[in-house]
Amino acid sequence: MWYQRTVFYEIYVPSFCDSNGDGIGDLQGIISKIPYLSELGIKGIWLTPFYPSPRVDNGYDISNYYDVDKTFGTMEDFKHLLERAHEYGIRVIIDVVINHTSNQHPWFLESKKSKENPYRNYYIWEEKPKNNWESFFAGSAWEYEKETNEYYYHAFSKEQVCLNYSNPRVKEEIFQVLKFWLDLGVDGFRFDVINFLKMQRDKWPDNPYENGKQLHKYDKNQPGILKFIEELKSFVSNWNDKFLLGEIGEDYLEDMLPYVGKEKLDACFNFNIGSIENFDLKKIYEELVKCEKHQIVPTLFFSTHDMKRHFSRLCKEQVNHAKLLAFMMLTLKGVPFLYQGEEIPTKDFRPKSIEEIQDIQGRLWYNNAIKQGFNKEEAFALAYQNTRDFSRSLLEWKDEDLNEDFYQFYQTMIAFRNENEILQTGNYDFIALEDFVLSYRRTSGNQSITFYLNFGETEVLLPKGYQKVLGTQEESEVLKPMNAVALCLGKDESLKL
Ligand code: NOJ
Repeated sequence: MWYQRTVFYEIYVPSFCDSNGDGIGDLQGIISKIPYLSELGIKGIWLTPFYPSPRVDNGYDISNYYDVDKTFGTMEDFKHLLERAHEYGIRVIIDVVINHTSNQHPWFLESKKSKENPYRNYYIWEEKPKNNWESFFAGSAWEYEKETNEYYYHAFSKEQVCLNYSNPRVKEEIFQVLKFWLDLGVDGFRFDVINFLKMQRDKWPDNPYENGKQLHKYDKNQPGILKFIEELKSFVSNWNDKFLLGEIGEDYLEDMLPYVGKEKLDACFNFNIGSIENFDLKKIYEELVKCEKHQIVPTLFFSTHDMKRHFSRLCKEQVNHAKLLAFMMLTLKGVPFLYQGEEIPTKDFRPKSIEEIQDIQGRLWYNNAIKQGFNKEEAFALAYQNTRDFSRSLLEWKDEDLNEDFYQFYQTMIAFRNENEILQTGNYDFIALEDFVLSYRRTSGNQSITFYLNFGETEVLLPKGYQKVLGTQEESEVLKPMNAVALCLGKDESLKL
């Protein structure tokens, strides 16, 4: 399917490109950057939520699934965006948040009015908090609502209320939402925290603790979720060629595997590779081998709007290191996802005070810490550790921010992938790690390319008889530290460079 041949680019709508100077990204800004993305070689974009929303969590709190938030533009802008992207051969997948809605969504406004309201059962209400579950952000997952003297369940902030999938009407509503956007021509969906859906109302045991931290054991992956995913897949297959990508909120590949497959999602975000905290080549290697063993096509990324940028986090802002990671992402088997600005490259934003922390997760940590008696400095330190603002500052698109050489390197690597089928769908002959040198060979038909990436501090001898196809250094018998090459046995005239 087309997605396996596509280099994607994540657009975090509020901070990608601001066309009207209000300090917030918007759809017109995105439209203006389509030629730029096309020149970079991008063939698919993932748009984070742009629907009407109080934007407590920057749009991951939807109050109307059928429109565009005024801050970002209009429905006409969205249609125009889709048309422009398609004209440039760029497919568009959109984020849908179906685990929860905003507390300002009309369904919830109705639901909280009375216990008899027809929408009551769209959400999860209890007389008392049913268990000890904590929100994935901070604090209790149960919120008291005085109108009906009951508590409702929210896995994230209290303004993001979890839908109740044990009610069949909720599923029907959500399928209508998908239909609406599919009919408009979107190319697929990124499903937010799709393994968190609450499929049943009984068996909600307390979550266990480890080292004082709650483990989210029972509030995800509930029985019934896989059947729902299959229904989703079968529903969407009424439209041709749509890409279903899931955010499975898990760090271990084993926990993601059940969600991906022919009758399920096409792919998921491989946090087992992408969200490593420090650069760890052995871990990356082991996870790649594991993906191969399970015959799963991984998504290839090291940055998203939920984590620190890998240029700062993994590469310590060293351009050579970042080039090596780009070389890796764009030559491995899988589906690459760039995060906006990484091609420039962009550094992390580091908030200096609580006023500079905008992310709800950071702010909740701060408020909770203050409530628990920490002083302001300690509370800020906790907020700093947990906030996701690092990767969310507005891109300014100033010429002086662009490192031409770095950008062109991305462009060359993406073109190399786009032009050569072997890089898109070719299999591995081997993947190996020796000291700090990662190598792999990809083959397709009678084509074969071997890749060497030297993350170490000493040069290594390259095998004899090979010719350089592409890389970060001149043709040589040795691979220098922090360099990478792609080699072919003899000259392969069929490769497009
Ligand atoms: C995952 C999204 O990527 C994140 O930004 C958001 O806060 C949560 N889901 C809740 O919707």
